[in-house]
Amino acid sequence: MDKLLIEGGVPLVGEVAISGAKNAALPILCASLLCGDTLRLSNIPHLNDISTMLRLIGQMGVVVTMEGNEALTLDSSGLNNPFAPYDMVKTMRASILVLGPLLARCGEARVSLPGGCAIGARPVDQHIKGLQAMGAEITVEGGYVHAKASRLRGTRIVTDMVTVTGTENLMMAAVLADGETVIENAAREPEVVDLANCLVSMGALISGAGTDCIRIQGVDKLHGAAHSVMPDRIETGTYLCAAAATHGNVRLTHTSAVWLDSVVDKLRETGCDIDCQADAIILKAPQRLKAVSIRTAPYPAFPTDMQAQFMAINCVAEGSAVIRETIFENRFMHAVELIRLGADIRIDANNALVTGVPKLDGATVMATDLRASASLVIAGLVAQGETLIERIYHLDRGYERIEEKLSRLGARVRRVR
Ligand code: UD1
Repeated sequence: MDKLLIEGGVPLVGEVAISGAKNAALPILCASLLCGDTLRLSNIPHLNDISTMLRLIGQMGVVVTMEGNEALTLDSSGLNNPFAPYDMVKTMRASILVLGPLLARCGEARVSLPGGCAIGARPVDQHIKGLQAMGAEITVEGGYVHAKASRLRGTRIVTDMVTVTGTENLMMAAVLADGETVIENAAREPEVVDLANCLVSMGALISGAGTDCIRIQGVDKLHGAAHSVMPDRIETGTYLCAAAATHGNVRLTHTSAVWLDSVVDKLRETGCDIDCQADAIILKAPQRLKAVSIRTAPYPAFPTDMQAQFMAINCVAEGSAVIRETIFENRFMHAVELIRLGADIRIDANNALVTGVPKLDGATVMATDLRASASLVIAGLVAQGETLIERIYHLDRGYERIEEKLSRLGARVRRVR
């Protein structure tokens, strides 16, 4: 298993390009299942989760052709196997995103339940409830969701909580349904909007994406299209945090701050100077950051996927901060690893009290999930001496060429095989 060895203490300085968004690319790859034509996608990041999704839809009959470095075409005219097996779904929860499109296109789908994951139980009851409201017959047996519907029908769905992939699954199912579907309490995440834009370019009739009420007028079929995936706002935020924590000065290109208001506001509160340009963000960090309290909540509030990175920042900031996690019940596993580096963190249920210390010391730590791993990288970049991060396959799921990008900014980091 690969590990990451970081020699901390070097400020990140320079320019780095941000990749396409994992959480937009994954549902958009699934959208290809909805039409019998070719979908051409660009700005696709090179990540393990993307490879997993390509393998998953590939075994369903979708022909994937790579076109250069970051583009590919998906031809789903031969889709013949609406089945997502456990051994693929268990490695990536987002596999559940095939359920809605398969059901809408094939009238049937058998998809393994994803099960729990390191950050919490994460059920998919809202996906199932919404599809049932659209007329699907659903049974859950032997760990599989088996769904059938000759044609889904439009209806009004109110989800119990804001769910990102739930909204995406239901939106994809609804584009081929009979009549109008209204999704209330919809997720407003930018990735939902990117998926809607791609679906609209394929001929779907969708309005309201980006608000909490999405209306979809079903059509008989979709056609081929081309779409460029939006930049990864979480990768962007992670590099901003890494630069802030190391007192660096970076320019991130191929990205934008328009989806990062809550994160940029908080970084400014720490004392960072941030210049948001049309397709770049420049951050200059002060010599000592001020601790900032955060509370995670659905977009446009502070993203849970940036919580761990801000915990790392607060570990070396001046003062104390409270971090409140409201989306996932078990998302503080990075805290115990940060404590091993010398951080002062006290956890009480879904609150973490972080008191900044003057320095962290390198140690061996273990990555437990994707964003937890990012916080350990940030802490390792700050810590004195060497930090060895184990189990970095989590990082490879969501950060493209992380050691190369960090090295370009001057970090002393290398992969140990
Ligand atoms: C997506 C993102 C993930 C991010 C999360 C929250 C992708 C591929 N992943 O995950 O990076 O951390 O949004 O912003 O886009 N819930 C239920 N029942 C359901 C669905 C969700 O109880 O049927 C709960 C979850 O357990 C969680 C909350 O709702 O507590 C939000 O989860 P959700 O938005 O669905 O997360 P994902 O879409 O899985």
